[in-house]
Amino acid sequence: MKQNLFTKQVAIIAALFLILLAGCSSKAESQTTEEETAQPILVQGPMPIEAENFAEKLSDVEEETSGTFVFYKGTLDGYPVIVAKTGKGMENTAAATAVAIERYNPAAIINQGTSGGHDPNLNVFDIVLGEKTTNIGSLKTGDRADGEGIEPTNWIPMDLMASEGSAGEDPNAEKARFYEGDEELLEAAKAVKDVHTEGKVVEGTIGSADVWNNEVDRIQWFHENYGTSVEEMEGAAGAQIAKAYDVPFLGIRILSNNKTNGGQYNPETASSNQEYVFEVVKEYISSNLEK
Ligand code: 5AD
Repeated sequence: MKQNLFTKQVAIIAALFLILLAGCSSKAESQTTEEETAQPILVQGPMPIEAENFAEKLSDVEEETSGTFVFYKGTLDGYPVIVAKTGKGMENTAAATAVAIERYNPAAIINQGTSGGHDPNLNVFDIVLGEKTTNIGSLKTGDRADGEGIEPTNWIPMDLMASEGSAGEDPNAEKARFYEGDEELLEAAKAVKDVHTEGKVVEGTIGSADVWNNEVDRIQWFHENYGTSVEEMEGAAGAQIAKAYDVPFLGIRILSNNKTNGGQYNPETASSNQEYVFEVVKEYISSNLEK
């Protein structure tokens, strides 16, 4: 009987101790979760000259890699920001975007870097905010038999996201798909236009493909048929994957060259764009995200 009472007391004390322990650990857990769930802003740059300047501006940077992609995880004004050096081109960008979304759950993605002008009114050092981004490498050729030649001006845009069926056979897929730039990111970018003094900042359409067009007639064809302001090799790939996961996205591209008006290639534009995008991110954090 006496022993029974003793066992009961021990059991009650042990139970109380366990409840206390559980309380402590769940409190500690909820504190870490709060800190860890602040969703970072992801800033993508394809080449070292398009990512490293920005990464150097962050505080408390830790570097992580996945395949050939490098993620510089740091903070800006106390808010988490990750710079991704994606490598050039559509495939690298699509994969690096998916990896970053799965790993870091970003609140928003900015894809930025250099570009070639399609609009003769835009000069080297002008910046285009991607109100729209579109894949200009997704095309269907005309029907031409053996010996009938090649007619690129008759090629038609092809929307691979129109349906899950064959894009080659589906008349609904015979159109370009435009990814809209996120409203809040655009607002933040417009709000700090004045900090970019080396050129103007305009809203426009970014065309992407793993192609560098040097034929001015072809560039004009894209400008007329897609309304492109600039071309580059990443934006539409990032936009497509960001849309697949419903993450706000904006392309921000500086002209490093413009064939339509003789604008010579200038690599200095890459760092100038990062200076501007840095201000955009600061503005976006202060007006849209809680610290
Ligand atoms: N055409 C295609 N890509 C360009 N880039 C800069 N200018 C152009 C252009 N005229 C960018 C691409 C890619 C790298 C080759 O430079 O986005 O990352």
